[in-house]
Amino acid sequence: MSGHHHHHHHDTHRGGGSGHADIDWAVMASLIEANGEVHAPATEQAAHWLRERLGDASEVHDVWDVGSGPGVAAGLFAQVFPSAAVLAVDGEQALLERARARAARLGVGDRLRTLTADLPDGLVDAGAADLIWSSKALHHLGDQTGAVARLADHLRPGGLLAVAEGGLPARCLPRDFGIGRPGLQARLDAVVEDWFTEMRAALPDVRTTVEDWPAMLAAAGLTDLRSRTFLLDLPAPLSAAARDYLRAQLVRLRETVAENLDAEDRATLDRLVDPDDKDGILLRSDAFLLSAQTVHTGRRAAV
Ligand SMILES: C[S@@+](CC[C@H](N)C(=O)[O-])C[C@H]1O[C@@H](n2cnc3c(N)ncnc32)[C@H](O)[C@@H]1O
Repeated sequence: MSGHHHHHHHDTHRGGGSGHADIDWAVMASLIEANGEVHAPATEQAAHWLRERLGDASEVHDVWDVGSGPGVAAGLFAQVFPSAAVLAVDGEQALLERARARAARLGVGDRLRTLTADLPDGLVDAGAADLIWSSKALHHLGDQTGAVARLADHLRPGGLLAVAEGGLPARCLPRDFGIGRPGLQARLDAVVEDWFTEMRAALPDVRTTVEDWPAMLAAAGLTDLRSRTFLLDLPAPLSAAARDYLRAQLVRLRETVAENLDAEDRATLDRLVDPDDKDGILLRSDAFLLSAQTVHTGRRAAV
């Protein structure tokens, strides 16, 4: 097994997976939080769509964010559902601390609780919810179909399960941005897909399945299935925060998948992340961010 150049500082991984696809969520904290903040406008649109789908928002008492990480969505849900208590669930304490701090900053700290739990088992005593949101977390579980069914079991009649998985790979540069061979982002997408496949293969008790989220929602007994995709469209010139996020994302790609790129593409990545390079992502004028996040929903039948 390779990977000696990115040994983790401490051993908080669950499931004993090993190899370079293993993820240290505490180390990833600021990148996940920046990702959530930059994508917040799209998440907010999704939250408003879910509020419409739920009808009377004053009847929405319990909202869960499962695999919340630093709780950017959880905080948004507390604002969009002012009658709701929000529960942010994650395996990582350090991320949930960020969720609590964020909720306090937003003035919704009294309505946001956190639960440190290993998914999906850790939810057994959590009770029932009117809306369960889970973004980019279920794909880290060995049995995705089983996890969807476990979440559906916690819905009140009429309640919604919303799974944010899939969409389009983000774009942040023109096809030809003047360094190296054009089309770098498409080649990054390809090596990231392989990384993802390896990541899933290394999960404990992994069960391969077609990544058909509506089919998983249906198999869990949910009906009224609907999927929608929310666009994040940040044109150039980007804010400093969005640039910092893109740089952190490129640094992470360099650490995880660059060995599968050719030398020219690796050199291009090196220049893009160089904070002093005028053609780097922090200083160039053409950087933008365009991405699309799909949200799949299903409803538990009202009695
Ligand atoms: C890619 S992040 C997504 C965070 C956030 N929902 C978002 O959309 O930005 C995945 C999150 O799932 C959590 N997670 C992954 N596997 C888990 C498990 N088995 N039990 C509990 N949490 C887990 C991680 O700690 C991390 O916060």
